[in-house]
Amino acid sequence: MTIIDLNGRVAAVTGASRGIGRAAAETLLKAGCSVVLNARASDEASASFAELETAFPDRVTAVYGSVADGVTATAIAQAAMSRYKRLDILVNNAGILREKVIGMISDAEISELFDVNIIGLIKVTQLAARIMTRRKSGSIVNISSIVGMKGGSGQIVYSATKSAVIGATFSAAKELAPLNIRVNAIAPGLIDTSMTQAFADIRRKSLESQVAMGRVGSPQEVANAILFFASDLSAYVTGQVIGVDGGLVI
Ligand SMILES: NC(=O)c1ccc[n+]([C@@H]2O[C@H](COP(=O)([O-])OP(=O)(O)OC[C@H]3O[C@@H](n4cnc5c(N)ncnc54)[C@H](OP(=O)(O)O)[C@@H]3O)[C@@H](O)[C@H]2O)c1
Repeated sequence: MTIIDLNGRVAAVTGASRGIGRAAAETLLKAGCSVVLNARASDEASASFAELETAFPDRVTAVYGSVADGVTATAIAQAAMSRYKRLDILVNNAGILREKVIGMISDAEISELFDVNIIGLIKVTQLAARIMTRRKSGSIVNISSIVGMKGGSGQIVYSATKSAVIGATFSAAKELAPLNIRVNAIAPGLIDTSMTQAFADIRRKSLESQVAMGRVGSPQEVANAILFFASDLSAYVTGQVIGVDGGLVI
């Protein structure tokens, strides 16, 4: 069995307070990384980050703020540089879902989704890539969605932001490959987090019935794919989108 050892590496995970981001952060910590954790300030986020700090002393740095606000991206990069002088892995996970039929979605909701899901991702990527460029090494993992490839009813804006994540992944992968910085994306299907727990029961059941494997996925199952992209096991893999969806899209 190959053990993934990321001892000495430094990662940043956006949206790390719960769900997929939290599982990714914990998985990277277990593999030996130090991790800069980000989420918007809340009691939930502080409790979640305090728990990780207790479990992995001296390897956790919390940065509170929205990836969309223009200063949080800088704060994440500064935290990595001031404490560790490097950044090896970036997991662009922070994301929000707002579902509405096409005619009902407001301008403010359109802007909010784009600001968080893609503009925020690009801002954090810009600063991370600058740091990674110095060492000519790095791995960026972007969290898209199967609806970014296949669409979803009631999700015109969300799916557009997630398609944009895939486009950004391809372009960044091309531009950064000569610098040995890899950029890949994951397209989760139906994963058991607060995002999908908010769905009505009947809708969850209907979506679940479309999954070839017949069940929802866990945040840990997405985190495992993130770990693969973060590690040297994927040293020759860039510009790829992996579905982690139990066969929802085949
Ligand atoms: N669950 C699924 O089935 C599924 C499927 C496909 C794709 N995804 C994608 O996977 C990612 C994680 O989703 P999840 O299911 O784990 O959702 P979740 O449980 O709602 O967690 C979202 C995380 O993002 C953080 N966040 C939200 N807005 C933020 C912002 N502006 N700045 C920084 N952090 C922010 C949240 O923390 P705060 O609210 O405390 O800031 C939380 O930590 C998202 O990009 C989502 O689109 C999920």
